[in-house]
Amino acid sequence: MRIQKIHLTNFRNFDDVDVEFGEHRNLILGANAQGKTNLLESIHILGVGRSHRDRKDANLVRFEEPFYRIEGIFEHIGVKTRIEVSYGEERKRIRINGKDAKPVDLIGLVGIVISSPDDIDLVKGSPGFRRTFLDMAISQMSKEYLVTLQRYVRALTQRNLLLRAAQERRIDASEATTWTQSVVELGAMVVRKRVAYLEEIVSQVSENFAFISGKTSDIKLTYDPRGYGIGEGTDIAVSLANALNAHSDLEIRRGHTLYGPHVDDFKLLSDDRDIRQFGSEGEQRTAVLALRCAETNAMGERLGRYPLVLLDDVFAELDEARAGALTALISKFDQIVLTSSRPARLADDDMHRITITGGRIG
Ligand SMILES: Nc1ncnc2c1ncn2[C@@H]1O[C@H](COP(=O)(O)OP(=O)(O)O)[C@@H](O)[C@H]1O
Ligand SMILES: [Mg+2]
Repeated sequence: MRIQKIHLTNFRNFDDVDVEFGEHRNLILGANAQGKTNLLESIHILGVGRSHRDRKDANLVRFEEPFYRIEGIFEHIGVKTRIEVSYGEERKRIRINGKDAKPVDLIGLVGIVISSPDDIDLVKGSPGFRRTFLDMAISQMSKEYLVTLQRYVRALTQRNLLLRAAQERRIDASEATTWTQSVVELGAMVVRKRVAYLEEIVSQVSENFAFISGKTSDIKLTYDPRGYGIGEGTDIAVSLANALNAHSDLEIRRGHTLYGPHVDDFKLLSDDRDIRQFGSEGEQRTAVLALRCAETNAMGERLGRYPLVLLDDVFAELDEARAGALTALISKFDQIVLTSSRPARLADDDMHRITITGGRIG
């Protein structure tokens, strides 16, 4: 679905603005700290129900105001969809065409891929960034994955509460593992989907990497389970259960679940070398963009149309050749919203331009 317009009320540094978008390529221009990223963030929130960079909705409310509200009109083959997300008095509300909805109801509707300079953390940052990447990408293609993941997190929370109670000797050690079976079964489902997803996108990542960098290398994406095996022929649930059972004393001492998809990771390898360790900064940025473009393709195939692609300041870090290749690579996507503080580089007549100055448009 394409975004046609958005109305922001008390969102970040915007008090009350309307923004209209072009059908294909949009370029948001403005100096630093004017609200470019905030605008992309608001589109992302409409697409997936939450910010890509801040878990606390209270932080998104314009300073000194009591609530924020974002309303967007989207269009797909002539059908319009109105999505509203608002937050106030510690309550968040999502509405689709005027009806109350949950984040899970947004899945399969818009489809969003966002890339920003912070994406370098997908290579250099802690495993949590990579898990979030997998979870966001897969959830947007599969309600089933999101629901399984939510059930896993609930089971994990219960199990951790009991481990904590056992640690403090409020309950017997044998009771602490009541939730192990659920954690193991749901956890194994999450892991299997993540592994399958990496297998699904690896050839695209590889192609995109070669295209952007101009040289071919053998790219691998390997799921990295912490403390248990997932090799060929392994029953993941059994393997995870064994790891948990073998370390139950340690889990009680620590007071939380030590193994499972909530601590796992994945690696990006180029010619069998970890890009995190051996890649140059340019290669790392290229790998991340290759990953984002592959995410876009995979989501496009699943949804039957490309997701809306938001690129926050991603050209600034690239050399001329790579920037040109990326421009070519993304040209096949449907609707793109780019931000830049330097107009000259991306200037192009058929781009729809939106200029932001201090939270005002134009
Ligand atoms: N909750 C908020 N209320 C008001 N202003 C905010 C809020 N959160 C961030 N800002 C302001 O938004 C500006 C940054 O906007 P941002 O979109 O990140 O800029 P850029 O154009 O560089 O991407 C900063 O001046 C910051 O103070
Ligand atoms: Mg910014």
